[in-house]
Amino acid sequence: MITVVVYSESGGTFKTTTTANLAVALKRMGLDVCVIDLDPQEGNLTSLFDVGSQRHDPEADNLVKHILEMPDGDFEDLIETSSEGVDVVPSHDMLGDFTSNLEQKISYETGMQNMNRDDYPRFELLHKLLWEKESLHESYDAVLIDPNARAEDLLYNAIFGLRTLVAPVKPAGKGNLSLDGLEELVENMENELDIQIGLSCVVPAGVGQTNAHQQYQKQFENTDAFDTPVAIGDRDSLMDAMWEARGSAFKVIEERWKTYEEDGEMVSKPGQRRIREREIETLQKLYELAGFVATETFDIEIDPELVLDIEGKGTRTIDLRDDSETEVPSA
Ligand SMILES: Nc1ncnc2c1ncn2[C@@H]1O[C@H](COP(=O)(O)OP(=O)(O)OP(=O)(O)O)[C@@H](O)[C@H]1O
Ligand SMILES: [Mg+2]
Repeated sequence: MITVVVYSESGGTFKTTTTANLAVALKRMGLDVCVIDLDPQEGNLTSLFDVGSQRHDPEADNLVKHILEMPDGDFEDLIETSSEGVDVVPSHDMLGDFTSNLEQKISYETGMQNMNRDDYPRFELLHKLLWEKESLHESYDAVLIDPNARAEDLLYNAIFGLRTLVAPVKPAGKGNLSLDGLEELVENMENELDIQIGLSCVVPAGVGQTNAHQQYQKQFENTDAFDTPVAIGDRDSLMDAMWEARGSAFKVIEERWKTYEEDGEMVSKPGQRRIREREIETLQKLYELAGFVATETFDIEIDPELVLDIEGKGTRTIDLRDDSETEVPSA
């Protein structure tokens, strides 16, 4: 099965956007997909997919209680399905206090068992929950995690549990190729936890038309250090509309969501967006990315054809089998 943590050492590098689009692309390839949101902040994947109505309720059962082995109900009852058919384990405020809750558990259990605190397997709890207790591999073809970028307990639990990373990167100020943080983290974790961590690929995104940005993209594509199956252009209008459509870039285009000014106010509505070829190409790249992760990294069979059903504009077909551009519109 596919297990991926979308990781980046810094904030705002399109992690949530990438996770959501990857999840929906895999879903549309015919796979059963579950996404776990480990980020307690506002503007996370839970808000994007419009789930998690109980995320601010301290009494509600939530993922932290399950990771810490003190659930209030069934794990299955935490899962909500997004409008695009992706299952989501939503975020909860308690994720923000994860470490202090974990420390209490460790104090209690190591005290009871006369164990050294340092011997407590603090990064293995999510692994135990997902694969030993809940057997998610029996119900899903793909599990993705959008972690909190801060390198602490939750991120380590995510990486220990899933083992493979997809790393979105954004052109830096000087357009340099800094992935030092990534390599360092992978090395440290491999040594400390005695596991192998794989990097599926790096995804440059937000790449504009400037010389510096184009240089930057080339540098990434030419390196042998990692795979770069696609680069995603600077698509703020498309990606920002995801937050209004409450779903993926595929949904934005198919339902034609657009944000614009009406009577002095900004409004967002479906059925309004113009179809731009460069945005259809971006969907193709997102589909290619998912195809790469599924087939090259995990050797999973997928449906290579995606039919976009665009509101009022007929269909468009993306086919990963031909290298050519997308087909001409059918209507
Ligand atoms: N290819 C792109 N081009 C331009 N803007 C983009 C692109 N992809 C995403 N964005 C926009 O960038 C902003 C940040 O993206 P996102 O929330 O995915 O980042 P993040 O890494 O999850 O941030 P955080 O560290 O806060 O969790 C969003 O407003 C999003 O719409
Ligand atoms: Mg995010």
